[in-house]
Amino acid sequence: MKRIAVLTSGGDAPGMNAAIRAVVRTGLDYGCTIFGVHDGYRGLIDDDMQELGARDVGGIIQQGGTMLGSARCPQFKTEEGRRQALANLGKRGIDGLIVIGGNGSQTGAYELNKLGLPVVGVASTIDNDLAGSDITIGVDTALNIALEAIDRLKVTASSHRRAFAVEVMGRDSGYLALMAGIAGGAEAVVIPEAEIAPERLETILNEAYDRGKKHGLIVVAEGAKNNGEKLKEYFHAHKDRIGFELRVTILGHVQRGGTPGAFDRLLATRLAAKATRTLCEGQSGVLIGWLKGVATPTPYPEIVGKHKPLDMDLFQLADVLAQ
Ligand code: ADP
Ligand code: F6P
Repeated sequence: MKRIAVLTSGGDAPGMNAAIRAVVRTGLDYGCTIFGVHDGYRGLIDDDMQELGARDVGGIIQQGGTMLGSARCPQFKTEEGRRQALANLGKRGIDGLIVIGGNGSQTGAYELNKLGLPVVGVASTIDNDLAGSDITIGVDTALNIALEAIDRLKVTASSHRRAFAVEVMGRDSGYLALMAGIAGGAEAVVIPEAEIAPERLETILNEAYDRGKKHGLIVVAEGAKNNGEKLKEYFHAHKDRIGFELRVTILGHVQRGGTPGAFDRLLATRLAAKATRTLCEGQSGVLIGWLKGVATPTPYPEIVGKHKPLDMDLFQLADVLAQ
């Protein structure tokens, strides 16, 4: 393996830059030439890439986002798009690819791998829903950002005896909401994996006030049916009967744009270095994820199309701790 391309794809995650840096410097150490592809699969299809040296990735480890850019690229879901990408790589003599991204991105990587290109993935998404990795790049930083917001909201909620709901990201997964709920001391957690009706939340909040709590805090996942907007509508529509309103804060992309913490910088560095070594040593068709404290390859067929289940014992624990 002499010429390697690296791209970041899907939702960006704090730590992606640390991963790019590790790919470039580990690859150079193996005597490879490294190309950085702009905007994920869009750059592969449009042949938009640049050679990266050690200095090009200096000063980025502490920056959120991705210096290469990221994108959702519907064209790559077509065989024609992927053939175009392969042709562009072939023209440049690139014989291996590293894909830093989440579920969709790794599905795309596997499709390319099936067409004969050696590809290795790096598990990166703030949603932490990728099979083959206990934790993914960006989760820890996103969680800390959510917690900072929750801690602040609890202060004002207590002063005014108000109820608050904080909506955190998670398109299909309640991981961020559940962990933020436990670590932030929420009265209830609403996630796609275990929906709670607004009527039940009303009871939970009332009971919390009856037990002497000064605040009522709900953490809700963006992907829940009863998301922040729905809860706001319900509590507003019934405010006279309920006796209080629910203030809703939607954190949205604020969570994704943070400065990567130590955990994510180190996780990204270790996963990406392992991915580069794996590719350079001739293995491919695998996702490098963090399993039991070790950067570990898992073959794509074992992870693609799978959704990592949430530990529902923790959902029960959140309830116990909310008393
Ligand atoms: P994430 O990787 O963060 O889950 P997406 O699901 O949006 O983000 O996927 C990112 C990109 O990966 C998509 O825009 C598309 O280019 C590519 N991709 C997703 N699913 C597939 C698929 N089934 N086949 C080929 N490419 C895909
Ligand atoms: O997959 C990561 C994620 O942040 C999800 O939690 C969220 O639903 C989605 O990306 C948002 O995507 P976009 O940035 O394209 O709006």
